[in-house]
Amino acid sequence: MNIQEAKQQIEFLSREIERHNILYYDHADPKISDFEFDRLLDELNKLESQFPELRQPDSPTLRVGGSINRNFKTIRHSSPMLSLSNTYSEEEVMDFDIRVRKLYEEPFQYVCELKYDGVAIGLTYQDGILTQALTRGDGVQGDEVTDNVKTIRSIPLKLKGDFPGFLEVRGEIFMPHDAFNSLNEQREAEEENLFANPRNAAAGSLKLMDSSEVAKRKLQFFPYGFIEDESSIRNYYNHSLESKKWGFTQSGFIALCKTPAEIFDFIHTVAEARSELPYDIDGVVIKVNEYAVQERIGYTAKSPRWAIAYKYKAEQAVTQLLGITYQVGRTGAITPVAELRPVFLAGTTVKRASLHNADVMSSLDVRIGDYVIIEKGGEIIPKIIAVDLEQRKEESEAVKFISSCPECGSTLTRSDGESAYYCPDDLHCPPQIKGRLEHFIARKAMKIESLGEGKIDLLYEKGLLKDVSDFYTLRYDQLIGLEKTYPPTSENGKERTVSFREKTVENILSAIVQSKEVPFPRLLFALGIRHIGETVAKKLAASHPSMKQIMSATYEELILVDDVGEKIAESLTNFFANTDNRSMVKRLEDAGLSMTYETPQTRRFGPLKGSRIIASGSFKYFATREEIIQSIEQNGGVYVSSISSKTDLIIAGENMGPAKFEKAKKLNIKIISEDEYLQLISDMPNNDQMIS
Ligand code: IVH
Repeated sequence: MNIQEAKQQIEFLSREIERHNILYYDHADPKISDFEFDRLLDELNKLESQFPELRQPDSPTLRVGGSINRNFKTIRHSSPMLSLSNTYSEEEVMDFDIRVRKLYEEPFQYVCELKYDGVAIGLTYQDGILTQALTRGDGVQGDEVTDNVKTIRSIPLKLKGDFPGFLEVRGEIFMPHDAFNSLNEQREAEEENLFANPRNAAAGSLKLMDSSEVAKRKLQFFPYGFIEDESSIRNYYNHSLESKKWGFTQSGFIALCKTPAEIFDFIHTVAEARSELPYDIDGVVIKVNEYAVQERIGYTAKSPRWAIAYKYKAEQAVTQLLGITYQVGRTGAITPVAELRPVFLAGTTVKRASLHNADVMSSLDVRIGDYVIIEKGGEIIPKIIAVDLEQRKEESEAVKFISSCPECGSTLTRSDGESAYYCPDDLHCPPQIKGRLEHFIARKAMKIESLGEGKIDLLYEKGLLKDVSDFYTLRYDQLIGLEKTYPPTSENGKERTVSFREKTVENILSAIVQSKEVPFPRLLFALGIRHIGETVAKKLAASHPSMKQIMSATYEELILVDDVGEKIAESLTNFFANTDNRSMVKRLEDAGLSMTYETPQTRRFGPLKGSRIIASGSFKYFATREEIIQSIEQNGGVYVSSISSKTDLIIAGENMGPAKFEKAKKLNIKIISEDEYLQLISDMPNNDQMIS
């Protein structure tokens, strides 16, 4: 590889790693397995050592990873929360042992334990009381999630026995399989997105705004690190034993080892026990046991030299690609799907794998008849990670992505910078219409329960539903008695019957009537306009509080709205330029749906009169952020989450971050204390008085 090629490859890898980092840490929604991620990082590392002059100062190889969630208070860790260097091979564990022994030539022991697959947390105990819980964040500072963490039963709120005055316990919060399965079952019933794996579910749960919701998630905790001011405990193993006396639970898998052979015994024992464990692990951690020896061996910028993680490879299988089919989603995005010769992998028979989009498909260069390696990491849907080129038939040809929609025949389009092809005929393409109907009734949209995918399908087939306004013309006599049996799908292998019996029809019709009360922002979201998610819908409704205003807003006006970029403004103007869409909205209005935003938030008559307000730090009077947001909204203000020139006021609680102070000063934004805020809302006349 020449330097030009290396430069390009380094740039590509850095971008990819950063993207996956954000997906993993910020969105808790990884798109590749740890193994694949580590491979990208490894390749980048190698290239950077080969061409040191090309290493960028912000290269992901220099970072510990992750970034900060904006909604929680950000606090610096007492000492950085480092990561571990990883390996997937026993040879590298031997190399680790050789390296360590070169750095410390006297006898010592290793301690081996499980590598839990969850979320890292640092817990501070002052005089035995849990005072703070910080996520790892970027390793230097993390989010304060104390209230949420306090709901986890295996985390003692008060230590027992003979505990030190100051103690920081670091460890892993995770969701056991049982809790994960029932959470996803419940989400499925409520038509919410499923969590791909327990780790994502744990990460998502910790970031919930409502602690009582966290309590329902049944998270657990195992400690793996202890920091004390001064301690008579000289090694990790003893600390681990002691922590049980303080009230922590341990997995029970721990071993003191002197040689690599003993380490491998532990690795093999755990590998066998792994499938029976009630929670996920992704490997084994090997640490030098004695603290004095750890200190002598020291650290790199990112990780201790005295520890290594041995990770189990995600389970893989080889099978043949029989064909490629294409699915059309609600937004018209085309997803290529690999149809595979059925193969047993990690407990289930796999027949299909997602190929995601045209870019992924062409970078894999899969061809019909190829033998492909499929992998099931923590995700539900397996993916193809490589093609076995040695078994490729000479006559095989590269697959060309389809050019017309498999459902309606329209010519597919792809915009610059997008990896997916789209079917542009959103008004006539059946899966897009059905997708929009399903989206409309979802819980976060119009919440029309008792109707699901199967029933919508049937009503569409019968010509009773053509667009979302048709829900409001459905009659009892049209629905009663309808029935259809769907053949088994390749996913669950079961046939399914949907039927409209008396009770169901009554429930559906009453849910439809009730949905007329749904507030305007949710209706806006429910329309399923491309790129308009829940948050954007709320912001649009706040700035343009009626359907009429939104429909007549120009691209230039829309783009000024917070969080509305070019794509969104364009999508909105396109949607409302279409006469079919306009008449559909008119029918919804005639049916009595709420077309204006009448909540106190935008009444603009409250004491805060539509001011855009940020609350930052922690508060005395308001126990949770939700409470202060509610107060702002009830008093006619609009809560915003980040400072911009459009912010009118900041309510500063305790510990408001210095960066926010600086920015607020720079932008000349008024800052008031919590007491001043309480004064402000009590001094001013309330909404009704203002109106009358
Ligand atoms: S020790 C200096 N022990 O693995 C780092 N980490 O990349 C000390 N993890 O984010 C970490 N199980 O959350 C340690 N038994 C264990 C662990 C463990 C899981 C996680 C940890 C960290 C990551 C390291």
